[in-house]
Amino acid sequence: MSQSWMQGYTSDIEYTAGYYREQEPAFLNLSAIMHGVEPVLIDKSFTYCELGCGMGHTALIMAANYPQGKFIAVDFNPAHISQAKRMAEEAGLDNIEFLELSFEDLVNDYSLLPLCDFITFHGIYTWVNDENRQFLTDICKQHLKSGGLVYNSYNAQPGWAAVAPLQKTLNLLSQQYSGNSLERFSSAVGFINEFRELKPRYFEFNATMLEPRLNNIKNSDPSYLVHEYLHEGWQALYFSDVAKKMSQAKLDYVGLANPAEAYSYTIIPDKFKQQLAKLEDFSAREMIKDLAYNTSFRKDLYSRGGRRIDAQRQVQLLNSMSWVLTSSKEQSEFTFNLSVGEATGNVETYKKVIKALAKKPLTTKELEKATKTPTSNLIQTLMFLYGSNKISLKNNLKKTNNVSKLNKVLAAESINQRQALAIAAGEIGTAMLLNPIELAFLNHHLESDSKGSKATSIAETMLEELSSKGLSLTISGKTYEGDKMKKHLKEMEKSWINDTLPRMQEMGCV
Ligand SMILES: C[S@@+](CC[C@H](N)C(=O)[O-])C[C@H]1O[C@@H](n2cnc3c(N)ncnc32)[C@H](O)[C@@H]1O
Repeated sequence: MSQSWMQGYTSDIEYTAGYYREQEPAFLNLSAIMHGVEPVLIDKSFTYCELGCGMGHTALIMAANYPQGKFIAVDFNPAHISQAKRMAEEAGLDNIEFLELSFEDLVNDYSLLPLCDFITFHGIYTWVNDENRQFLTDICKQHLKSGGLVYNSYNAQPGWAAVAPLQKTLNLLSQQYSGNSLERFSSAVGFINEFRELKPRYFEFNATMLEPRLNNIKNSDPSYLVHEYLHEGWQALYFSDVAKKMSQAKLDYVGLANPAEAYSYTIIPDKFKQQLAKLEDFSAREMIKDLAYNTSFRKDLYSRGGRRIDAQRQVQLLNSMSWVLTSSKEQSEFTFNLSVGEATGNVETYKKVIKALAKKPLTTKELEKATKTPTSNLIQTLMFLYGSNKISLKNNLKKTNNVSKLNKVLAAESINQRQALAIAAGEIGTAMLLNPIELAFLNHHLESDSKGSKATSIAETMLEELSSKGLSLTISGKTYEGDKMKKHLKEMEKSWINDTLPRMQEMGCV
């Protein structure tokens, strides 16, 4: 099974298709602004590179949402690239290029990649080996423009300290078995489960940390687990080591990639703040924070010489941004998960902002007037709502039909879909998550639309289709057949027509 192009990376099982909002240009820019760094200009053309794009889902949606950007998505797995390329072609997206190349190829031939404003790698850094981690730095060094932003997410220490031996053991055990990665991984897990009954001390002494991981292994998609546990170079990393490596590419740490994280200091207890204040070095401070909160995953944002900005410039940049409500207008619970714990805020301010946005999208400046909230409180409220995906930024650029063309292609994938899948939402430059049934409804809706005939009932068409194939309907582990299946589909159709479809139209998905 060991093919040399894999470089110790497990590639016989395709990765799951996911959408990662943190990689969006607007999300990264807003994070930069809130951490005090000048953003990249994105209202005109810009260049974006995603390294290790997997099935290309994030890159495809971003390309559809940002027609002014040029996107390059790289992965060495031909199965990933061929699928992603096919979808881009079917959707007629001409601002994205998928390259079947390794990180090493990019380092060896400078001409393969242009200078970029953004370089992002999500779910890569921990899973490749040291040599490839160096290639990633070298690519940033060679191809990031001055002022450009880099996003890097990885499994972090000390959160994995107790679990790393389990990863190592599963990796080693899986090499003893035959079959593809899924089969070998499953045999390794089977061995560990039997072994645990003998009460090995490692499992007993580290139970608090291991239990959630073992549950995660029980409940997660095996295609994801193979990628989490079977790569030879897998390493959970210390922030300081990552930051040191990134500095070789003249990259300065900006902060965690989430604008709400700019407020994390406000919820750190005072005594802890005093401890942190004794440390000058940012790496030492991050290390202490990671110890305090037992961080196991980091999403870091770096900048290459981005200008530091003050509060006045932050407000200037934020004032003209428009906000759209993307969650319920009836909300009363406002708690937000940050890297340093749970944040709350003034419930009345959240309610006022949500009430105002429920009527129509408003700019920061307009919201300030409408809610009579002081600027600094309003900005904090907006960042918590945006960071937790309750509001989005309105995309004010000229619309193209790229979004609807891509969503048609994605909806047609509903046949093979067993998990929620994101589709592009052009009005807000982000994505909307649809469960497989909603996706199938969208597919039928678009198909009947393009044939110019309105299907009498999507539920009936689906029922016929499922029945003719002898299939039943399984939702959240419950299976529906016959009349029960019909009743369930009818109910789902109602909520699709009354709720999902109008929301999709409002968000610019269709
Ligand atoms: C864990 S997946 C993450 C995919 C995607 N970024 C996501 O989060 O859904 C890692 C991806 O990196 C690719 N990859 C790993 N090593 C690579 C290398 N040396 N060169 C290019 N791609 C690589 C794999 O093929 C895989 O698609």
